[in-house]
Amino acid sequence: MCGIVGYAGKSDAVPFLLGGLERLEYRGYDSAGLAVVENGGLSVRKAVGNVAALACEISARPLAGAPGISHTRWATHGEVTLENAHPHVDATGRLALVHNGVVENHRELRAMLEERGHEFASTTDTEVLARLVGEAFESMPSRDGESLREAVRVALLQAKGSFAVGVIHADAANAMVAARRASPLVVGSGSGGQFLASDPGALSGWVDEVVFLNDGEIALLDGGELRVDRIDGSAAPQPVFREVEAAAGPSELGGFEHHMLKEIHEQPQTLRDVMMGRLDSDEATARLAGLDCPPEDIRGWGQLILTSCGTSFHAALAGEYLIESMARIPVECEYASEFRYRNSPLDGGAAVFALSQSGETADTLAAVRECRRRGIPTFGIVNNAFSSLARETRGGVDIRAGAEIGVAATKTFTSQVAVLAMLGLLLGRMHDMERGEGMEILEAFSRLPDMVAEVLGTEGLVRGIAEKYADSGSFLFFGRQAHFPVALEGALKLKEVSYISTCAHPSAELKHGVIALVNERTPSVFIAPRDGLFEKNLGNIEEVRARRGPVIAVGNAGDGELEAICDAFIPVPKVPEFLAPILTVVPLQLLAYHIAVLLGCDVDKPRNLAKSVTVE
Ligand code: AGP
Repeated sequence: MCGIVGYAGKSDAVPFLLGGLERLEYRGYDSAGLAVVENGGLSVRKAVGNVAALACEISARPLAGAPGISHTRWATHGEVTLENAHPHVDATGRLALVHNGVVENHRELRAMLEERGHEFASTTDTEVLARLVGEAFESMPSRDGESLREAVRVALLQAKGSFAVGVIHADAANAMVAARRASPLVVGSGSGGQFLASDPGALSGWVDEVVFLNDGEIALLDGGELRVDRIDGSAAPQPVFREVEAAAGPSELGGFEHHMLKEIHEQPQTLRDVMMGRLDSDEATARLAGLDCPPEDIRGWGQLILTSCGTSFHAALAGEYLIESMARIPVECEYASEFRYRNSPLDGGAAVFALSQSGETADTLAAVRECRRRGIPTFGIVNNAFSSLARETRGGVDIRAGAEIGVAATKTFTSQVAVLAMLGLLLGRMHDMERGEGMEILEAFSRLPDMVAEVLGTEGLVRGIAEKYADSGSFLFFGRQAHFPVALEGALKLKEVSYISTCAHPSAELKHGVIALVNERTPSVFIAPRDGLFEKNLGNIEEVRARRGPVIAVGNAGDGELEAICDAFIPVPKVPEFLAPILTVVPLQLLAYHIAVLLGCDVDKPRNLAKSVTVE
């Protein structure tokens, strides 16, 4: 989604800005722009399309100077046009502002500003902020960094909604202001200047440490010691510096054509990593130290709520089946976007787990904040220990999947499910699960990475299936119990990267309506391992066949009965039911990938999608 990079210092800002934006490209965007203070004035360049297009525009019309701010825009308010791309300028054309988030009261602010004579150049909510800050700066007694900081602060007090902003002004040529509410922003010093960015990865190699601004904070970067205040005028806590991890780059494709394929193939290792040190064979349980919660409290949880969005929601749904069957504790899954507004009755023993790959998903963070307000213990299942989600929950579990660059989540799904299975084991052993059963589960966990590697060995077969069905206009996905979330995830993966229309249902729902979609040109993908409901799945497959619908089945290796009635069969090893979703999802990831490649789609950056959805 939108990205921000800013630089203030003695060097030319442009190479830093372009380099930083390139590192944020994987998050998804549709236009880019930057502004620098140059020869006492403000120079702005923008491009519709990617950062390379912006670099071309700069080659054609060079600029240089500092400070500078830059942005990749993922359209929310207003079409993808040059006018709507950031930075936006104020009425004088001497102030530039970039913004992530949504100004919810932008209509009334715009009307108010228009009454005062402002003529807007764009249809964005962001330009309203640029105009407001500009007006406030014009009324300041002096024209320096301090005044710019105060102008930003005063203007933001009028804005409702979420924002992370970077602001520069030609009259405050040594200064840059950063402020945030609900959208992430970091600031740091190094490489001959000071920086701001929406993601610390953008600054890797230039700064060693960053400060994650807290909600409602504002910082002035003017070459002096970093000063952080609160937008509302109250005192801010002392800034805490944290190390920046090295960012993954495109050079790290490791021989794979795309990040998505590389990340699918990383799963044996990411599963080893997520389990490392967490399986306890002495006690036949799992150890999740990051929960940072006394066993008596954990034992007291009478209900779990899992909340998240997209793929992370599908992982939660799989977790619901696994935890309930292992621990016999009721689990509810809630879309974070709905949960945050639902005011659902939760009993005193409820604990909430929020799942998020990015740790920055706006809806998930809002759900967490609402739970905290209600005094409900809230934990994060995260892939970034410095993310907002990790910082805003009282404890949690790091899925240790490493950077996921492909916009379509793959390895993080399997790692999230593995964490939930370990949570199920931990809770099961605290309640009624026998030691022997715990040991069997541990043994299955230890074989899991090799079994995923075995499934990856079917890639040639899956590619052949992709070739046969890539031209299908739509796909149906079906599964039972914990394989229903796998069906949902397979359907999401395919539609995300290939733009093919898909839907997913529990297999038994077929006859309740979706059977109307079955025809000779619409493949039905069934996840049908030999579990307690295998025969039921078989019946549904026959119902599709009876209507000449092609059937692709994911089943257990050696299952001749299933293979015989399908048009295509993908074998996976047999594992205990609570780990099976981690295996059966892998062929669906490969199928989506290969169909997308065959259709010529941009698999790592699918149209309209953002890796980190930081707006509501
Ligand atoms: C998954 O392929 C998608 N990119 C999307 O559904 C994603 O899972 C969702 O936006 C949630 O993201 P999060 O895990 O970072 O919170």
